[in-house]
Amino acid sequence: MTSGNGVLLSVRNLTKYFPIVKGLMGRVTGYVRAVDAVSFDLYQGECLGLVGESGSGKTTVARSILRAVRPTSGELLFHINGQTVDVAQASSSELKRLRRHMQMIFQDPFGSLNPRMTVFEIIGEPLLVNGLRDRRQRKARVRELLRQVGLNEEYLYRYPHAFSGGQRQRIGIARALALHPKLIVADEPVSALDVSVQAQVLNLLLHLQRQFGLTYLLIAHDLGVIRHVSDRVAVMYAGKLVELATVDEIFTRPAHPYTEALLSAIPKPDPERRTKRIVLKGEAADPSHLPTGCAFHPRCPYAQPLCAEREPLWEEVRPDHFARCHFALNNPAGPPPPRAAETSTDHTKNEHAE
Ligand SMILES: Nc1ncnc2c1ncn2[C@@H]1O[C@H](COP(=O)(O)OP(=O)(O)OP(=O)(O)O)[C@@H](O)[C@H]1O
Ligand code: SF4
Ligand SMILES: [Mg+2]
Repeated sequence: MTSGNGVLLSVRNLTKYFPIVKGLMGRVTGYVRAVDAVSFDLYQGECLGLVGESGSGKTTVARSILRAVRPTSGELLFHINGQTVDVAQASSSELKRLRRHMQMIFQDPFGSLNPRMTVFEIIGEPLLVNGLRDRRQRKARVRELLRQVGLNEEYLYRYPHAFSGGQRQRIGIARALALHPKLIVADEPVSALDVSVQAQVLNLLLHLQRQFGLTYLLIAHDLGVIRHVSDRVAVMYAGKLVELATVDEIFTRPAHPYTEALLSAIPKPDPERRTKRIVLKGEAADPSHLPTGCAFHPRCPYAQPLCAEREPLWEEVRPDHFARCHFALNNPAGPPPPRAAETSTDHTKNEHAE
């Protein structure tokens, strides 16, 4: 759990707008608001799950934290070795020093490994770049890493094509672990894998987290994937955080209608606990043409006239449970408004989902 632990990373008002450029003159005609004033703390040793539909800005948050893209504004305060460094403003030499503490695991285990490099070269590369020139020592460390991720040490000189998707993802994890990082950002690490392999890779991540005290930002499309791995969950919609709470709170008392819809999409094997899926109207909001007020209002089953007029604030609806909604669900301060007439979902059931 998070309480009592220190903060490793404080994300404050992180914003990333991508300019939309048109014509030969390179005229900027607008902006894609990929990430808009996102704030959260990442505690040492926790796993924070970041979920949301495609295009909600999850990868842009991840890439900003690792400074693969430069944020438009905001702070990324990394607390390391008694010091605080703002990653958003770090110089290239500071970034080089910081990067060994922050590593990424990618979605696509096929595309993220260089097909012309052996396993030894792939996992050993960050060691070499960071000064471990002695080949024997490097080989010993790579063997150790292979053991830690559950791969045979004898695979050292094989190429990526010789491995299954799950094994390749293990190679990617071994590479990410090579420099003893503090923070691992895993961007959809299992979504390209067979369902049968997904649980194995998630269990490996959990095991490694406990063994090495790692801190994870774990990105996923759906809540089902992160349920058993995350301590807390942050939900994104159209570039903004719309809810943040412990995994138990999110699953038992979601406050935001969008979270409720995501929860309803998780298949539930037990017929007693099955609830009707909430099918949202329309497409996810386009971050270059956001609706007025609450960006979710054109799709929200609870939307009221106020929702199109005024953007909801980020509020603590219960202790350590934050949401951005004028009419938060499961809110002891007042019942949510009735659903709009045209929706066909059974809200009473969903309030007791899970
Ligand atoms: N380099 C870029 N230039 C312009 N627009 C971008 C760029 N990178 C991302 N975007 C846009 O920013 C928005 C957020 O993209 P992002 O990849 O962060 O979403 P995501 O939540 O990771 O989606 P997915 O689940 O599909 O991976 C999208 O509208 C995307 O098209
Ligand atoms: S503010 Fe209104 S439209 Fe937005 S999520 Fe809440 S009820 Fe729905
Ligand atoms: Mg993404």
